[in-house]
Amino acid sequence: MPSTTLPPTSDIDLFATETLLDPYPVFSRLRSAGPVVRLSRLDAWALPRYEQVSAALRDHETFSSASGVGFAAGLNKIMAGGVLASDPPRHTALRVILSRMLMPRALRDLGPSVTDAAEELVDRLATHGEFDAVSDLAEAFTPRFVADIIGLPQEGRAQILEFGASTFDGLGPSNERTPATIQGQQALLHYVSTTAARDRLTEGGLGARVWEAVDAGDIDEHAAVTLMMAFLSAGMDTTILSLAAAVRLFAEHPDQWDALRADPSLIPAAYLEVLRIASPVTVFSRVTTRSWECEGVTIPAGARMAVMYASANRDERKWVDPERFDITRKPADHLGFGVGIHACVGQNLAKLEAHALLEALLAKVRRFEIGKPELIVNSTLHGLSRLPCRIIT
Ligand code: HEM
Repeated sequence: MPSTTLPPTSDIDLFATETLLDPYPVFSRLRSAGPVVRLSRLDAWALPRYEQVSAALRDHETFSSASGVGFAAGLNKIMAGGVLASDPPRHTALRVILSRMLMPRALRDLGPSVTDAAEELVDRLATHGEFDAVSDLAEAFTPRFVADIIGLPQEGRAQILEFGASTFDGLGPSNERTPATIQGQQALLHYVSTTAARDRLTEGGLGARVWEAVDAGDIDEHAAVTLMMAFLSAGMDTTILSLAAAVRLFAEHPDQWDALRADPSLIPAAYLEVLRIASPVTVFSRVTTRSWECEGVTIPAGARMAVMYASANRDERKWVDPERFDITRKPADHLGFGVGIHACVGQNLAKLEAHALLEALLAKVRRFEIGKPELIVNSTLHGLSRLPCRIIT
């Protein structure tokens, strides 16, 4: 039966630059407006609360990714059929190739080199004392691990940092940055087809496995290219933003740093809390395959839904005092990595990196002092572009 309840409507612009720079007050207004809110400027519906974000992500039959998880027809079309932008059975065939290489067991061999790299980097930064926590710490640390897992050639590795942000930005609606995001996609495609072409990848790496799956007839060549593209873009900026956010949060909450120094076994819990309160991925979308009822409001089939991970992670209905950074909270059910069949396939790698880096920092740093943070402007990511930092050992 169609519902007679009128849905709450909002003219909030989820992708205005002011919103991207300071999203949390806007998220809070949307959560107050209702569990599902019609966004009049976007021809889409927002899911700003934890309960509905979690429900939508777990119900991929109603909330499909096959028409893309962004808001712009252009990039949705380019990404269509890729791992992020597909439903089972296609999604299952693509995902299994990535997940095999990213399970904790598969990452075990990488562990010691991540620890060594973290210690070496922190030693260097501690000697210097002053640095930028984005470029000198997070960006200096993360890209090599994604590159090693894929088996990328050394040549051209500096370039891979450029790809992630533009893919995530391109997932937002068309705007003045769209031409740059399309250029970014073209550069990524060019890189995957030339510098990181099949015959240039290290044997046994994830990239080589992707092409073996083509030979085995499990996926086609187009799927192989989109898998490489997804992997290269999804694992970089997300992790970088989370590491820089950790430094900022611990600088702003020295009591929490002291608590972590007193009990380093809280490192995994602390990283969960960083991801909850400073979720790098703010929003992706789904399209309903059938009508969906939510608290008396009926959403029709074919509706584009904004699934608001970062807002869900600050929902006061779910979390006690959600604005408070508390490393003893242990929010294992935060939605910063998503949940359901599309839940982040790289989360074990992100955790491995973050835990190693926090451990190395704990061994050296008594206090972080920070200057004025600068923020990225990106349609689906939130976080720092610059964070002047001094460490007191
Ligand atoms: C802190 C770091 C990270 C965050 C916050 C993050 C966040 C996310 C989120 C929210 C999703 C769900 C997308 C959806 O619901 O449609 C996702 C999926 C994905 N992530 Fe991550 N991610 C991180 C690190 C990584 C890393 C390190 C890699 C690769 C090495 C990676 C690769 C992927 C891929 C390939 C998917 C698509 C999975 C699928 O559609 O089945 N991510 N990530």
